[in-house]
Amino acid sequence: MTKAEYNAKYAAITDDFIKYSETVFGGISTPNALADAMKYSFFAGGKRIRPVLTIAFGDALGLDKNVVMPFAFGLECIHTYSLIHDDLPAMDNDSLRRGKPSCHVKYGEATALLAGDALLNFAFEHILGVISTKNEINALKCLADCAGCRGMVSGQVSDKESENSFEKSEEKLFETYELKTGKLLTAPFAMTALLKGEKEFVHVAENIGNNFGKAFQFADDLKDVLLSSEQTGKTSGKDARERKFTSVSVYGVAKVKTEIRALIGKTVEELKKLPGTEFLVCLVESIDEFVDAKGLNTESSGIKI
Ligand code: IPE
Ligand code: IPE
Ligand code: MG
Ligand code: MG
Ligand code: MG
Repeated sequence: MTKAEYNAKYAAITDDFIKYSETVFGGISTPNALADAMKYSFFAGGKRIRPVLTIAFGDALGLDKNVVMPFAFGLECIHTYSLIHDDLPAMDNDSLRRGKPSCHVKYGEATALLAGDALLNFAFEHILGVISTKNEINALKCLADCAGCRGMVSGQVSDKESENSFEKSEEKLFETYELKTGKLLTAPFAMTALLKGEKEFVHVAENIGNNFGKAFQFADDLKDVLLSSEQTGKTSGKDARERKFTSVSVYGVAKVKTEIRALIGKTVEELKKLPGTEFLVCLVESIDEFVDAKGLNTESSGIKI
């Protein structure tokens, strides 16, 4: 697959996903600012990497797009809620997200908190409204697990606890990253395998998501150090300023790059064992290109940062 083919496919999947999302949100209005705040953050931009992974993996498994799309949508709702809450003053206290004022800066803290709550709920409302099969119920359970107290939320707590802890080990870093980032990046693979009804496949999917999730968060940590706010759409340099526990603080920039390359290598090796994963391999490798020897090559990553 050429770079141009890859970029075109990424754009086509994203366009399709946004159209679907616009239709779903078209049916939502509230007698207050809630719906506006939800839509503001959801449609603010973002790479849409979780839905793209979900849709592309569904495609590789030969699943009907109509079956996969509600799950891709629900996952992006949950991810967006996690970002709104991540930016709140009690969490990372970040005023810029997806190149725009964070939800709480625009709508106030209370409404932002509640917009996050509503997006989490909306994910399940939407999926439950369209599913009927056992496979779909299993996939929904997987999504809930990845998001909740055994998943992303627990990772966010570990992340906050680490700010006041002296334990800054690699083991603690992995534990935190596998939960806070890894789980919502495992979901695209694991829930889609369950949609297909291939349970034996779920552990392969978990491995893929786990390694990719760490690589992705490591790259996010690097971007915080090496890119500008214009490039990331977030407040750059904030992790170091606030002495956050990140891969960069544990390894330093050079070793983070080596680690990303190794994690991407493992992810690609697993993906290549499965048929129809050419696009996914390109996507995963684009994270590696991002940290190539020439430095950060955002143009060729194929993903808008
Ligand atoms: C940001 O996720 C939070 C992390 C887990 C690093 P993304 O980098 O996917 O953010 P968007 O969706 O593109 O804004
Ligand atoms: C991941 O970590 C956040 C979530 C799991 C929501 P970060 O705090 O590093 O994410 P950014 O950099 O604010 O997007
Ligand atoms: Mg955070
Ligand atoms: Mg943050
Ligand atoms: Mg970050």
